Formats: sequence, structure tokens, C-alpha cells
Amino acid sequence: DLDLTAYDPVGDGAEGGHMHREMLDQPAAAERVLRGRLDERFGTAHLGGLNMDARETRAIRRVKILGCGSAYYVGQMGASLVEELARIPADAEAASEFRYRDPVIEPDTLYVAVSQSGETIDTLLAVEEIRRKGGRVIGLVNVVGSAIARACDGGIYLHAGPEVAVASTKALTTMFLGFSLLALQLGRTRDLSIADGKRLIAGLQALPAQIEEVLKSEDQLALVAARLAEAESLFFIGRVRGFPVAREGAQKFKEITYRHAEAYQTSELKHGPLALISPVVPTVAIVPDDELADRNVAALHEISARGGPLVVVTHPDVDLGDVRCERIDVPRSERELDPILMTIPLQVLAFHAATTLGLDVDKPRNLAKSVTVE
Ligand code: G6P
Repeated sequence: DLDLTAYDPVGDGAEGGHMHREMLDQPAAAERVLRGRLDERFGTAHLGGLNMDARETRAIRRVKILGCGSAYYVGQMGASLVEELARIPADAEAASEFRYRDPVIEPDTLYVAVSQSGETIDTLLAVEEIRRKGGRVIGLVNVVGSAIARACDGGIYLHAGPEVAVASTKALTTMFLGFSLLALQLGRTRDLSIADGKRLIAGLQALPAQIEEVLKSEDQLALVAARLAEAESLFFIGRVRGFPVAREGAQKFKEITYRHAEAYQTSELKHGPLALISPVVPTVAIVPDDELADRNVAALHEISARGGPLVVVTHPDVDLGDVRCERIDVPRSERELDPILMTIPLQVLAFHAATTLGLDVDKPRNLAKSVTVE
């Protein structure tokens, strides 16, 4: 339903048309993944494809999420959503590691495989190994009928539409929303109140327009990106909910700009990266308006005091004091949903840094859109 050849947003024949178009499709992709799945009356989600009834979802004691690359990082965001909304212990692991380490498969763990293509070999083999040992796996998959979708016990299709650029944008956004729906449904069969369910639903419904609003700041972000492109090495930092955002931001930046971009927990700054902070090493910091904002701002002062250039992705109410930085405000959402709105500007920064450097954004060197052979 999408003509992938007709769109060329950055000028005639310019490279990067797919990634740009896919970034701009995110509000619509977000609408698609949510459509028909929200139950406003009972403050829950309906995910028929999970093939699990309320009794089975209540029996889940742990959630283990598996994916590769960006799917792994968004899996970490998903683990937070599951823990916060459903209060089920959850974590994410690179499927490429999991399959090689003889993992313990537990009957009351829900395994979740995340994949845009549904063909990534490491994720597929992890799914097959879990099922061989009797575990239950659901898929968060974009491509209908793909190998991972077929190998799972059930799942959630993401409806992101075709994604062509190697760097994932809209698929990642729909993965985040898929996790939000899953966490909401799991939560509502457990201790999440109807009021909290309704609060989340209102937050989810507001997201497409909020994503659109972030994308409108593309011109400002392009200027910041052109400056970041000059650096040989950058840090992306975040804490708790913000850390997977930093990891995904660093991933995007390094894969399409070929600059060294490293993600760190803001809390670990003093245990390593601070040694490298200098006027030629910029830091992109994720600072949501949450209970950790003061601590995050204190870390910004540490960086600033050492002459480190700063780009701060934050919310309008956060007081950054006299920290010298490029400030990027994103709209407030429900706190659990903040990570996705903070991820969007990082995509735009990576895209414009790469185009500034004259690189082929859609097809970065040495990388494939999906790695289907060992
Ligand atoms: C490759 C791509 C990444 C992608 C990962 C997982 O490494 O370069 O952009 O995130 O595969 O792909 P999947 O199709 O499983 O989401």
C-alpha cells in the first residue's frame, strides 16, 4: 500500500529518502498499531493474537524479551513497560547471545521475540530453542507470515508498513507501542487499576500527534546535527527509562554516520566516561521530567564543568539551571511512554548528521537490513 520509490524528501535523487520518509510515517504507523486494540471502557488492550486467556496471563511470573540491534534496545524499553504496568519482572537480552548460552527455559516465563523483518536468524533460532524446550513465545513482528511470526505461539503484528532503510525508525516506534499494549493487557489482568489503564490509553491516543510535533522541529534538529557530525566520538547518556533511549540513539548515530557513539548510564558517568569528556567530545543526554531529573541535571553540570558540549533531550518543565547546552524539548506524555517521544529526535539527529557528512543513509556500509544467514 506504500509506494517506496516515489518519495524523495531531501531533494532530487538524494540519498536517505527511505529513512526520511519512514521517520515521517511514524505518526501514521503509531495509529495503525493501536487501531482497534484499545478498550477505553475497561482501560485495557485487546490483543487477540496472543492466544492466551486471563488465567494464562495471570500465571506469568517473568517476561524475557529477545531481539537484535534496535529490536533489542526497544526490548529494554518494553521490559520497563512490563515491570511498571504489570509488575512482572522483565528483562531484555540480545537474541544473538541468548541462543549461544544454554539458557534455562522456565514454564511460567513469557518469552517475547521482537523483529521487524521476522527473519533475523539469531532471533529465529532463539525462538526455536525456547519452543523445543517447551517455553511459550509470542512475537512482536512487522512482516506478516515471516519465519519468526510462524514459529511463535502467538503475537502482535506491528502494522508499521514496509521499512526499507537499514536504520529502523517506524518499526521501532510500533514495537514500543506493541509493548505498551502488551504491558497494559498484562497489567489489567493483574493489579493495574482501571484508572491507570485509562490514563495509559489517553497517553497512547495522544502519541501520534505528539510524534508529529517532535518531527516538526526537524529544522532545529538539523542544525544541531550538523554540529554533532563534526565530532569523532560522542556519548549518549540516560538513566533507567532513559538508558535504552540512549542506547538506541547511539546505535542510530554510529550505524549511519560511522562516528564512534557510545551509550552509558548517566549514573555510571563517574565510573568511566567522565575521563573522556572534553570540548571535542559531545554528550547527548536524555533528561525526562521524572523523579530522577535533579540527579540528571547534576550530571550535566559535571560534563559542562569539563567543557563537554551538551545536547539535552528533555521536557519543557525541567529546569536545567545554568547548564550550557542545546536544549531539545519534547512534549510530556505519561511517564511510562516518555521513552518513545525522546527517541524520535535522536533519529532525526542521526539522519541529518549522516546527510551532512554526505553518507548513504539508507544503506550504511557493512550492514544489512536483516541478517538472515549465520
Ligand atoms: C540488523 C539491522 C538493524 C535491526 C536488526 C534486527 O542488524 O541492521 O537495524 O535492528 O537487524 O532486525 P529485525 O528485522 O529482527 O528487527
